[in-house]
Amino acid sequence: MGLHGKFGSGNSDSNPTLKPNDLVMTPRHIAKQMIDFYDLSEVNTILDPCRGGGSFYEQYPCKKKDWCEISEGRDFFTWSKKVDWIITNPPYSIFPEFLEKCFEVADNVALLIPMAKLVSSLQRINMVMEFGGIVSMRIIGASRCGFPFGFPAAAIEMRRDFRGPTQIEMWPEN
Ligand SMILES: C[S@@+](CC[C@H](N)C(=O)[O-])C[C@H]1O[C@@H](n2cnc3c(N)ncnc32)[C@H](O)[C@@H]1O
Repeated sequence: MGLHGKFGSGNSDSNPTLKPNDLVMTPRHIAKQMIDFYDLSEVNTILDPCRGGGSFYEQYPCKKKDWCEISEGRDFFTWSKKVDWIITNPPYSIFPEFLEKCFEVADNVALLIPMAKLVSSLQRINMVMEFGGIVSMRIIGASRCGFPFGFPAAAIEMRRDFRGPTQIEMWPEN
């Protein structure tokens, strides 16, 4: 059975509030490109808080990696250990709460999201700036990620206590 089919039945048991857009899986090559944006050579721990089919988790270079996934009984909101990095594509319907939880447990948070999710709320922008700031944004058309909406998406890298300038560029072609 395909992953979406599995979610279709499995999630209604574990989380009846999941929305269809929460189940948009990232193509493996896009996840790999995003992981490669960041220097993870000295990194100890990486968490995928919402693993889905594992396109990010399985390609993390780090040995100390862990995951949550609500449909497999691991709710990120019950995670309490600190980690160095989170790199993922999060569920959109609960994005503000999810982002807040990421900031609680990780020093570096890189999320592939529709750009509007971040910039459409002043409260959310303030939350990011209080955490530190945006290190980089790499912008990509949603269709290239296989996302079922028309808004541009971006890999947004946020770092605790970051005070430097933000690098903004288009997602590289290859
Ligand atoms: C947009 S999908 C992306 C999945 C995967 N990160 C990827 O990029 O392919 C979001 C995932 O978050 C999961 N999810 C939703 N709420 C969650 C929670 N509270 N804890 C853990 N996972 C959750 C969904 O089941 C879904 O697999």
